[in-house]
Amino acid sequence: MKFLIFTILFLPFINSIEIPLSKTTIIDIILRNRLPKPTINKEIPQNSSVTEHWIQQRVNHFDPQNTQTFNQRYFINDEFFQPDGPIIFYLHETPYEQGQAKYYLTSGPVHDLANEFNGVIVLPHHRYFDESVVFEELTIENLRFLTVNQALEDLAHLIFNLRSSDSRYLNSSVILVGWDYGASLAIWFSQRYPHLVTGIWASGARLNPQIGHDEPVHYVENVMRRGGEECFARIENGFRQFEEMFANNQSNILRRKFNFCFPLPYTHGDFDIEYFYEIMVTVFYAYAQVYDGFYLDIVCNQLLNVPVENDWEAIGYLYGLLNIPPPLCYPNSVEYQFDYVQELGNTASSEYGFAYAFTYFECANFGFFLNSGNGTSIFGSRFTKEFFAHICNVLFGFTEDQMTENFELFNTIHGGRRPLVRNAYFTVGELYAWIDQTIERDAVHSTSFYEIVPNRSLHTELSLSLFSDDFLELKGRIFAAIRRWLGLTTN
Ligand SMILES: *[C@@H]1O[C@H](CO)[C@@H](O)[C@H](O)[C@H]1NC(C)=O
Ligand SMILES: *[C@@H]1O[C@H](CO)[C@@H](O)[C@H](O)[C@H]1NC(C)=O
Ligand SMILES: *[C@@H]1O[C@H](CO)[C@@H](O)[C@H](O)[C@H]1NC(C)=O
Ligand SMILES: *[C@@H]1O[C@H](CO)[C@@H](O)[C@H](O)[C@H]1NC(C)=O
Ligand SMILES: *[C@@H]1O[C@H](CO)[C@@H](O)[C@H](O)[C@H]1NC(C)=O
Repeated sequence: MKFLIFTILFLPFINSIEIPLSKTTIIDIILRNRLPKPTINKEIPQNSSVTEHWIQQRVNHFDPQNTQTFNQRYFINDEFFQPDGPIIFYLHETPYEQGQAKYYLTSGPVHDLANEFNGVIVLPHHRYFDESVVFEELTIENLRFLTVNQALEDLAHLIFNLRSSDSRYLNSSVILVGWDYGASLAIWFSQRYPHLVTGIWASGARLNPQIGHDEPVHYVENVMRRGGEECFARIENGFRQFEEMFANNQSNILRRKFNFCFPLPYTHGDFDIEYFYEIMVTVFYAYAQVYDGFYLDIVCNQLLNVPVENDWEAIGYLYGLLNIPPPLCYPNSVEYQFDYVQELGNTASSEYGFAYAFTYFECANFGFFLNSGNGTSIFGSRFTKEFFAHICNVLFGFTEDQMTENFELFNTIHGGRRPLVRNAYFTVGELYAWIDQTIERDAVHSTSFYEIVPNRSLHTELSLSLFSDDFLELKGRIFAAIRRWLGLTTN
């Protein structure tokens, strides 16, 4: 009895931005914490000067005895390159769905940068994702080499390889550009190998992985407040009603109205209830991340105009849960999701392969999991960091203690929110839910810059050519900094 319900938000809306909200597995929900962003053309124009390349990388850079290799794919666009021009790397915002990043080879801010400085654009794909398959079988044993540190070594080797195999790049400086995970990677790389990097532009980097982060949910709340009092009250009341129903053993009402396949709680006890909250909170999270007035207006319009008796039903409506027609039902059990994901994610080429691998990556290295924080937000208190620890435990065998230790060690090695990076331009949207996870202001080195982009959430400021009127001045400042780092100006 396995089938998927496709929850569609609002059709006129889905075409204009990409929010990966279509499938209902835990993995999808984790992925929703990633990047909804404006739609961009992913195809490389036929006439472009983009070329595809492969580099042989060690599976394990840290074991000199292990000579096993895999092929990492990367793309190059050298249309602007002139002798002594820089190598400009675009590091993709998430390791998965690498294909999306191709856009940056032929348009957008990275392309502009290359044009301005006569640079070559290099876009490497991340190990384990896209075509850069390390192992087809995604066993826990085989996933061990999916770590940030291995990815940093891949990049160092690629730089070495580019310079030594193509004499045009022998003297080229290296500029790294990235947002979200790509920005984190740029920061960690530049800190570890300052001799290999001339400058970085890091947008919305998340720097202190841990099992749960308390702050983001409060930023989501603040964004929702901008939708007006009435809209905010509806969300607040809806979540209060959810809490009341669970407190009064009335979850059967929810089950009936939303046509859930399973009772709440079910085989995973309170985690089934946490899963419910995860779903409900994440929809607001996703909107807060792509926030600007236009989208929030649409969300609030939907919330306020849908004909419902109770506030909580309007929230279910946002997720497409209200009145799912029988015999369809929404598979709301943690158990079901685990089975589903383990069945469809266990090989690199399977439907959930990348998502499964990425979840491993989050449990092992890049832990940025939303939770209810201290319970004082409108979203209530029943969505704890233990939920994700549970997922990491069931899927990959991590214990909470082990994860805590792993993240502590990771943050010690990489500097947490206080990395030491010279020649960096850090940008972060004012409304970004993870703003408390970016670099601390007083840790910004004197050669570097930190700039908050007003009224923006997730890194839209990096898409300079998409929002060119808004960001021309910021772009000018960033380019001026890079010009200085490249030694192209005296002041
Ligand atoms: C490719 O074609 C488009 C549209 O004809 C043109 O605008 C663009 O400059 C061309 N690009 C290259 C690299 O020739
Ligand atoms: C690189 O720098 C060296 C030393 O300045 C110079 O001799 C050489 O021509 C340069 N190579 C390129 C490709 O610019
Ligand atoms: C809800 O059900 C549980 C277990 O069936 C019971 O222990 C608890 O007292 C009930 N709570 C209320 C408010 O009825
Ligand atoms: C809960 O967290 C928020 C955001 O971090 C903070 O503003 C608030 O004071 C905290 N409340 C309590 C009771 O700790
Ligand atoms: C940010 O958005 C608010 C609310 O929409 C608006 O009042 C304010 O003028 C905006 N600020 C900037 C700097 O655009």
